[in-house]
Amino acid sequence: MATIVGAITTSHIPAIGSAIAKGAQNEPYWKPFFSAFGKVREWLADTAVVVYNDHGLQFFLDRMPTFAVGAAAEYRNADEGWGLPTLPPYRGDAELSWHLIDSLVEDEFDLTTCQEMLVDHAFAVPLQLLWPNAKVCPVATVPVVVNTVQHPLPSPARCFKFGQSLGRALDSFGGERRVVVIGTGGLSHQLDGERAGFINKDFDLMCMDKIVAEPESLARYSVPELVELAGTQGVEFLNWLVARAALTGRVSKVHSNYHIPISNTASGMMVLENRG
Ligand code: DHB
Ligand code: FE
Repeated sequence: MATIVGAITTSHIPAIGSAIAKGAQNEPYWKPFFSAFGKVREWLADTAVVVYNDHGLQFFLDRMPTFAVGAAAEYRNADEGWGLPTLPPYRGDAELSWHLIDSLVEDEFDLTTCQEMLVDHAFAVPLQLLWPNAKVCPVATVPVVVNTVQHPLPSPARCFKFGQSLGRALDSFGGERRVVVIGTGGLSHQLDGERAGFINKDFDLMCMDKIVAEPESLARYSVPELVELAGTQGVEFLNWLVARAALTGRVSKVHSNYHIPISNTASGMMVLENRG
């Protein structure tokens, strides 16, 4: 069976990708952010299920699935407009993908299945952070996309149930895998409109606290409440909820970091261990 070793949640800001491309990790602006990732690199996993939101690269406003899962042998990266270098393709795990899709659909989550899929900065940047010395990402990947972009968005409660179903699907997989579930995006940020630059430190820190042992309490918010509390793009926290809900065992916090701001965003990172 697949062993879910844990979850890692991290912001996915494109400026992180350009800092990596420039080798700026030790500059004063970046050091407090990059130094948080030392512990994460010791993680032992051969497969990453990456829960993120696409930003107009694979899905645009004209066709927006609520939940989509990749089922390809390979995923290509492209830049949707940030000027980031294109990274080498990512290895998929079609066998695991189809098992997850079968199980989620059986569980009444009617997904979009993608046998071809471009992956943007929200998928690529976290993997660069977690495996910084690898030219090619060393783990197999399964992209899981949540619509956090075009309303109506799935509610936090729906995302939590989706994550629980994903966890059960991983538990029932017949093959041997060591899986880390990565939830990307957040924490509070708003990129445009009257509240551009909005950050809510109290709310972010409360979420980082509750997500360890009382994640259901965070699933009670409505989408409008989440927009108000976390900002229009802070709703990317839905990806964190999916990743956390996929942990089926006893969960403990191994490491966390919170740093304001990186670009326009409150950057948060957590490492959660899952014991069977
Ligand atoms: C920024 C944050 C994001 O989540 C994103 O997708 C793009 C940009 C930012 O803070 O610049
Ligand atoms: Fe984003």
